[in-house]
Amino acid sequence: MILLNPGPVTLSERVRGALTSGDWCHREPEFAELTREINAELVGIYPEMRDEFAAVTMTGSGTSAVEAMLASFAPADGSTLVVANGVYGERMARILAAYRKPHELLQLPWTSPLDMDAVLLMLDEHPDITHVATVHHETTTGRLNDIDALGALCRDRNLPMLLDGVSSFGAERIDPVGWNLDAVAGTANKCLHGVPGLSFVIGRQAIWERPRPQVGSVYLDLYGYYAGQHGDGFSPFTQSVQVAFALREAIAELQEAGGWQARRETYLQRAATIHKELGSHDVKSLLNDSEYSCVLRSYLLPANLSYATLHDDLKAQGFVIYAGQGELAEQIFRLAYMGDIRRADLDALCSALQSAISRAR
Ligand SMILES: Cc1ncc(COP(=O)(O)O)c(C=O)c1O
Repeated sequence: MILLNPGPVTLSERVRGALTSGDWCHREPEFAELTREINAELVGIYPEMRDEFAAVTMTGSGTSAVEAMLASFAPADGSTLVVANGVYGERMARILAAYRKPHELLQLPWTSPLDMDAVLLMLDEHPDITHVATVHHETTTGRLNDIDALGALCRDRNLPMLLDGVSSFGAERIDPVGWNLDAVAGTANKCLHGVPGLSFVIGRQAIWERPRPQVGSVYLDLYGYYAGQHGDGFSPFTQSVQVAFALREAIAELQEAGGWQARRETYLQRAATIHKELGSHDVKSLLNDSEYSCVLRSYLLPANLSYATLHDDLKAQGFVIYAGQGELAEQIFRLAYMGDIRRADLDALCSALQSAISRAR
């Protein structure tokens, strides 16, 4: 089965094989060493981060990393502006509300880019805003948000940014200085091509070192992870040991293949192949070409073809696609290009799309 959903991804043999590397206790020095190694490798994916940032890994999905980042770093004595144009931006606001942290939500239409005029207006209307939170690649539509523009504003106004990089880390550019990043959250099982079960937060050294604030969570208190993993190397809770073996291998595979830039190129080539095939059947994308991330694209369902029919037909041919969410559920389907997908798989996918679409006509 080839997975075209936005994570988990089709694993390489090397990553899958790493799952059986051994039965280790998470409280033995060899696992502490592995944790240190992975944290250093994560920061090394973006060399600009190496000097000023440090990572912690935790057992949980991408949302746990985003939630931990907001629970630990969004201020209780300031206010966070959440700029949202999809499910995951709106989820950041839900998390802040759950933790009763002061915040404002700029809720934009899901098909719109980040609206900088609206951001400026929010900042003018709410001078208490001290932080900005947003999503890099909004997987709801596939849009790669223009974080350069928002980040420049954050830098000008000295507003630290908390970024959901769950579906972009490892395949899209991240500019920690230009974006005034305090932290970015990511996961093992999307662009890094690891196994689901571990996620991570990379934070600026200065915020790790500030006096430890009261965090309204026990499990998601990142300061506990930092103290452990950057102290004796141990994590406060049981880590997913086998997933860590797989993540180490996945990061090695990424770096050996040329890092995030090469992965981006690979995804773009996959996207172009599929886009051409769908275009030849007159299937239209939801957004303009230039608005998409390299990771995922959303397409309008052809007339007379329901998502369920398309999904089931493609699944019978070995491919799992992804539905739209919320208001887009009946309108679109999504294809993600992550994971160990070969040229032959792409060719087979093109044939499968062709037969599924022509059957519906
Ligand atoms: C941008 C973004 N943030 C957060 C998440 C949540 O990740 P998870 O489902 O692993 O909790 C996703 C999942 O697709 C995502 O795409």
